[in-house]
Amino acid sequence: MCGIVAYVGEQKAYPIIIKGLQRLEYRGYDSAGVALLENKSIEILKQAGKVSDLESYAANKNTNGHIGIGHTRWATHGVPNEINAHPHNSGDGKLAIIHNGIIENYDSLKKALQEKGHQFESDTDTEVLIHLIEDIKNHENCSLFEAVRLVLNEVIGAYAIVVIEKGTTDEFIAARKGSPLVIGVGEGEYFVASDASPIIEYTRNVVYLEDGEIARINKSEELDIKTISNVKKTPYIHELELSLDSIEKGGFSSFMLKEIFEQPKSIIDTLRGRINPTTKEITLGGILNYEQKIINADRIIIVACGTSWHAGLIGEYLFEDLSRISVEVEYASEFRYRNPIINKNDVVLAISQSGETADSLAALELAKEKGATLLGICNVVGSSIPRLTHAGSYTHAGPEIGVASTKAFTTQIIVLALMAIKMAHKKGTITISKYHEIITELELIPEKIEKILKKNDQIEKIAEKFKNATNFLYLGRGYNFPVALEGALKLKEISYIHAEGYPAAEMKHGPIALIDDNMPIVVIATKKGNYDKVVSNIQEVKARGGRLIAIVTEGDKTVKELADYCIEVPDSFDGLSPLLTNIPLQLLSYHIALMRGCNVDMPRNLAKSVTVE
Ligand code: M6R
Repeated sequence: MCGIVAYVGEQKAYPIIIKGLQRLEYRGYDSAGVALLENKSIEILKQAGKVSDLESYAANKNTNGHIGIGHTRWATHGVPNEINAHPHNSGDGKLAIIHNGIIENYDSLKKALQEKGHQFESDTDTEVLIHLIEDIKNHENCSLFEAVRLVLNEVIGAYAIVVIEKGTTDEFIAARKGSPLVIGVGEGEYFVASDASPIIEYTRNVVYLEDGEIARINKSEELDIKTISNVKKTPYIHELELSLDSIEKGGFSSFMLKEIFEQPKSIIDTLRGRINPTTKEITLGGILNYEQKIINADRIIIVACGTSWHAGLIGEYLFEDLSRISVEVEYASEFRYRNPIINKNDVVLAISQSGETADSLAALELAKEKGATLLGICNVVGSSIPRLTHAGSYTHAGPEIGVASTKAFTTQIIVLALMAIKMAHKKGTITISKYHEIITELELIPEKIEKILKKNDQIEKIAEKFKNATNFLYLGRGYNFPVALEGALKLKEISYIHAEGYPAAEMKHGPIALIDDNMPIVVIATKKGNYDKVVSNIQEVKARGGRLIAIVTEGDKTVKELADYCIEVPDSFDGLSPLLTNIPLQLLSYHIALMRGCNVDMPRNLAKSVTVE
């Protein structure tokens, strides 16, 4: 969480930093700040609130300087106010820092510094870091580069940092461990950011700093990179493939709406080149050499968080149903701390849009120590999970900027389906005709989603009826149980309405007590799967006065007679139905949130990329 941007070169730094922070605002948006270096002084401007609040505040301030650092914050230590906003100064005011991550031993470091006379203004761990750099620099009488390196050997935790020094207008120091950092390499200029989006319009050449590396970035010199244990590294320049269009709203009122409507295209992009048009053979290049390992694995353990965890559950159903491989789905945050049994013959598969989620990364590290095979399904190319795993497949959803995950979820299901179908085919656990039937259905998904998206107005009208509800229950069975969980998560995170997802049959073991004539219940009741059983569950709800919104298969008659509102989706193979049933739920949450005046792209307290525990 938190977004960081830095610039050094011949251009004016401030506009580049502000534009970059706006692109990174999905990472945190409770305060923002910049530090600009001109001649011999450091000008720090910061504000509580969004980057636009900082912009208004800075409108009549001095924003000159050709070197600067900027930060948009998601608070961890200290409330989101101006004092706790980054950048933070050293005690003597000669240094300034921006930081993304958490310094876990900041308290003991702070106490030791206080005993030496350091005084702190903020409640942040970051201010401790810059005071420590100042302290070591003065004590060792060394360069800033060396002081930062020495300090990073003392801190425990995660960081991506950039440090500037008064009087040094041609260079700064950057380092990372556990939080991402990309360096853009221009002609006589460098850019640093938490991801490539602030850099893309200036240069396509980037260097991904590795964990435990530190860089001296001087506008007139080659990058000088070493590890924090002082081993010189040679930078490897990657060429970015990201397009500028893909990170803009393209005529939509929000990124979330754009991303919901982009799903047919994202799915086509994710399928592209992976199904042979003639033989219908599936090829996932990234896991080609690991297919036998997956087939022979004792278990696949899926580790993920949030929406990606819901995709993992659908993956479990697909792998077990089609390829008869045993799967466990774990919350990465629980898995990493519960002393799990992991064997060499296990395949641990992390699913993550960002590829940077701290708990998922830690779960993989643990599995690595135990000798398991590590796989990843990620959206962000070059992020930490793909770099840590032995093999994996990208989702190709394109950048997902709305904090609420939509197209990442559908494309994760696509990759999981491709993997499960491929393994089933290879193992012979499905017939050839079943294989071809599923592939045909898979290829039809984008046009079926287009059809559902045309129901946007109908869904908006339903949203109008329920916008003032205070609780929602989402029910589903089989493949559509995880869709119920995801529907509930989407509603609560963007509209702040309490919502719970439940397996429909479990309702009678508790949640049924909640049902009265005020309680909206969203039920997924598509024809395949446990249709008759779900119909019985619907009757149980109806008998208690619940208000029902049902997602049904086109042409359904039975549920239509029972439910207050029905949204039809095209028929499909049961295992692929979540790709369809999930779309109306995304739109329902979107419209309800909008009608309640919520910011759908930047819901309160959340951040897109959770790089802290
Ligand atoms: O980047 P990841 O997929 O690892 O992120 C996992 C969760 O933080 C994420 O899915 C979160 O739950 C979203 N806000 C859901 O919309």
